[in-house]
Amino acid sequence: MKGVRSKLKDNGTVWISGTFHNIFSIAQVPNELEFRILNAVTWVKTDPPPNPACRCFTHSSEIIIRARKNKKVPHYFNYELMKAINDGKQMKDVWNLPAIAPWEKSCGKHPTQKPLGVLSRIILSSTQLNAWILDPFTGSSTTGIAANLLNRKFLGIDKEIDFLEMSKRRRIEIDELAIFEEYKQKIQGFKDQECLSVHPQAECGQELQF
Ligand SMILES: C[S@@+](CC[C@H](N)C(=O)[O-])C[C@H]1O[C@@H](n2cnc3c(N)ncnc32)[C@H](O)[C@@H]1O
Repeated sequence: MKGVRSKLKDNGTVWISGTFHNIFSIAQVPNELEFRILNAVTWVKTDPPPNPACRCFTHSSEIIIRARKNKKVPHYFNYELMKAINDGKQMKDVWNLPAIAPWEKSCGKHPTQKPLGVLSRIILSSTQLNAWILDPFTGSSTTGIAANLLNRKFLGIDKEIDFLEMSKRRRIEIDELAIFEEYKQKIQGFKDQECLSVHPQAECGQELQF
């Protein structure tokens, strides 16, 4: 997290997602590093998978901490856009969005892959066109795919080469205009956005730039 802080712009925000298993311990870290926590967004999955053991309530939410780098420098927040995609009402910190859908796994399965709808809302709310976005735990690079669909640039890092290979397949997939357009249509909140694609070559290795 210290490394992320040194790369983040002064008006930038960091978003950390987790479940009840880990989010309460992780939440200490931004405080210790002088970030200022702005929100704990609750993503409510509108179509959660059932709990097979029938011993718990259905797990249907995740918490996403949103923090700004600098306690004194104002952060970038696309408030008006969030309001516009929420039928003209102020966006709440509870987001009702679907869980991961089968079409999002066309290039392979990652055990904790996030939906493009969640990442696109995060990106739209906190970055401008052509911004650089870093995901140091990139997995299948949902952040990167959402970033490119929204005409942002992306750097992802993961310790597992197989996940980086999956990320490259996902990036190549959206080179096809029909798929690019189809995915934009499927993701909530895209409808009125300028979503021109950039198609830089993906690079191989432990780091991946889109
Ligand atoms: C929750 S998953 C990310 C899923 C991603 N958001 C997606 O939609 O596919 C976290 C990822 O962090 C990676 N990871 C865990 N520890 C790491 C480390 N120390 N350095 C780099 N990557 C790490 C794991 O391999 C895993 O793919």
